[in-house]
Parts: sequence; structure tokens; C-alpha cells
Amino acid sequence: MSQKILLTGGAGYIGSHTYLALVSAGFTPVILDDFSNCSPAVLDRLQRLTGHPALCERGSVTDSGLVQRLLEQHRIGAVIHFAGFKAVGESVAQPLKYYANNIGGMVGLLQAMEASACRTLVFSSSATVYGDPASVPITEKFPVSHTNPYGHTKLVCEDMLAALRVAGPLWRMGVLRYFNPVGAHPSGLIGEDPAGLPNNLMPYVTQVAVGKRPYLNVYGRDYNTPDGTGVRDYIHVQDLAQGHVAAVQALLGKGESFTVNLGTGRGHSVLELVSAFERASGKTVPYQFAPRRAGDVAQCYADPSLAEDLLGWRATHSLADMCTDAWRWQQGNPEGYGQALAGDR
Ligand code: UFG
Repeated sequence: MSQKILLTGGAGYIGSHTYLALVSAGFTPVILDDFSNCSPAVLDRLQRLTGHPALCERGSVTDSGLVQRLLEQHRIGAVIHFAGFKAVGESVAQPLKYYANNIGGMVGLLQAMEASACRTLVFSSSATVYGDPASVPITEKFPVSHTNPYGHTKLVCEDMLAALRVAGPLWRMGVLRYFNPVGAHPSGLIGEDPAGLPNNLMPYVTQVAVGKRPYLNVYGRDYNTPDGTGVRDYIHVQDLAQGHVAAVQALLGKGESFTVNLGTGRGHSVLELVSAFERASGKTVPYQFAPRRAGDVAQCYADPSLAEDLLGWRATHSLADMCTDAWRWQQGNPEGYGQALAGDR
């Protein structure tokens, strides 16, 4: 029988892409989501793409009793914990919201897992744990730090997992430090659907291209980078989803815990991304330079070789693929999931 994997936050951007990758790999994902930052319409899209209704429970990961019931009822083999708030600026304005959900949610989840003896976990961490890196590319051995409550919650969660591994050798944990996930499923049916003004570069670019916003602000032109704009490691969400499958397979197989970067190992500047997007979409993306954004670093890209050594995983999609797929999703869904395509319920 196919192994069941619980995806907390499984209806979100990365969770929904991982759902499809897990189905393709022969797993049965079960979604737990409170839909606080995503739309239930994604479930219809997942059904269209897989041919089966998604197993999904509406609820919060902070509800430990609910999580335990799901773990036991479905005999879950492993959990992938995506559920968490992720907006840096909001975390500065409302830190308690972040500590309660991201750290409280992790505590509740781990208690439920302990109680039901399901001790295999993949955790969504972030390159934010590297703070302002002294050099690039960044390996997992780099020192960690935080500059905002969001980043602090990721570090606390990583520390919590490390403490549990010391306390109990039965735990198997994969910590995945994401770099900059962008792009969408090649079907154009699922993608990133930020509420309100996008914080991140790619959704802002696609919204400018589709005519929802007049121009892009490029934050900073005087960084110590080849063209003066910030450099990041953009990774196709399909590659990232595949990284989760590899992580689950490794934990259920060999069973050794790990912490790995998921990035491509290549840095691209803001202006490079804009040019690549213009080529992929045939659209012009007007932009203007604006002051640096508080908290931004000049360069951040991964050394992803540990993930290849331990998991046999590496990113295969190019920046052009990321732009093509992000544009297909934006064009087909100008209002995100808010505007259902023909054929949706
Ligand atoms: N940028 C712009 N204009 C915009 C948005 C972004 O010029 O409208 C620039 C930023 O200044 C930066 C680059 O585009 O140079 C990427 O910015 P993003 O907001 O897309 O991504 P970040 O690298 O700032 O943030 C991401 C995640 C965070 C995480 C961080 C570090 O969104 O959750 O990586 O891991 F904390």
C-alpha cells in the first residue's frame, strides 16, 4: 500500500507542488491546512491534475489533538511541515503572530508525532538562517543568525529539532533550507498566489507584466554585485518539490537525519531576472530604481552539493524555465485562484 505523507500547509505554494511530486513518486499525500494564506480552489486544481480528490483536513497545525488524530487515522509514515507564516516585514510588525504560529505550531506537531510514534519529519527552513553571509556560495557549515522574528522562528525550530534528536535516537529529520523558490507547475494550473502586494520579486514582476501594477521597484542599485542589484539563488518550485520527495525517500530509506541547502548554486541579479522574464514572456517590464530595502543582503546563493551527495538531488530547471512557467501561471490566472478557470467548480 502506498505510504501516506502528511503535508501541513499542503495547500500553499510549495506544498501544492510537492503534493503533485509525491503523487508522481507513488506516495499518498494528506493535506492539513487552515487556508489562512491560500485558497481551497487549489484542491480542485490538484484533483484535475491527479484525477483523484485530494485528502484534505481543514485545521491548524497548532491543534495538536487534530494532528495526532490525522497521524493515527491515516497511519502517516512521514510529515512534511510547510505550515508557517513567511513575510519578513509582517513578522517585524506582528512578532507574536509569528512566534505563536511558527514555533507553537512546531511544538504542537512534534508533541502529536511523539504521541503517535511517527518520528519522521521534513522541515521547511530557509536561507534566511544564514543572515548576511560573509561570502558566497553558502554551505551548511556557515554560521547562522537572524535579523527579524520570521528568521528567528526558523532558527528556533531548527534548534528544537536538534534537541529532539539528542533526546531520542528514533527521530529522523530532514531540514531543507530553501533559497528563492519561483515558477509554477508547467500545467499553469497551480502557482504562487500572494495576497495583496507581493513581497517577493517574481510575483511582482509577473503582476507588472500582466498589467496589474504599473512598474517594478528595483530595491538598490549600489550593491557590490556585477550590476549593482541584489543577487539571489532562484530555484524552480518543481525542483524544490522534487527535493522534498528525495528527502522523504532518504529518511524512510537510510533514515539518517540531515540539514541541506536547496538551491541551484547560481546567483542572478534583479536585472538579470527581469531580462530573462522579458525574453520568456515577450513582455516589457517597466522598472525604476528605489532605495535599498531594509534587511536585504547583497548576495545570497547556495552551495547545493551536500543535497546532491546525501539525497542524489540537484536542480535541473533554468532561469528561463522559471520565468516561462511563472508567466504561464500568471497569464492563465490573472487573479490567482480568485478567478476560477473554465472547468473549475
Ligand atoms: N526585489 C526588488 N523589488 C521587489 C521585490 C524584491 O528589487 O519588488 C529584490 C530584493 O531587493 C532582492 C531580490 O529582489 O534583491 C529578491 O527579493 P525577494 O523578496 O524575492 O527574496 P528575498 O531574497 O528578499 O527573500 C527570500 C524569502 C524570505 C527569506 C529570504 C532569505 O522571501 O522569506 O529569501 O532566505 F527570508
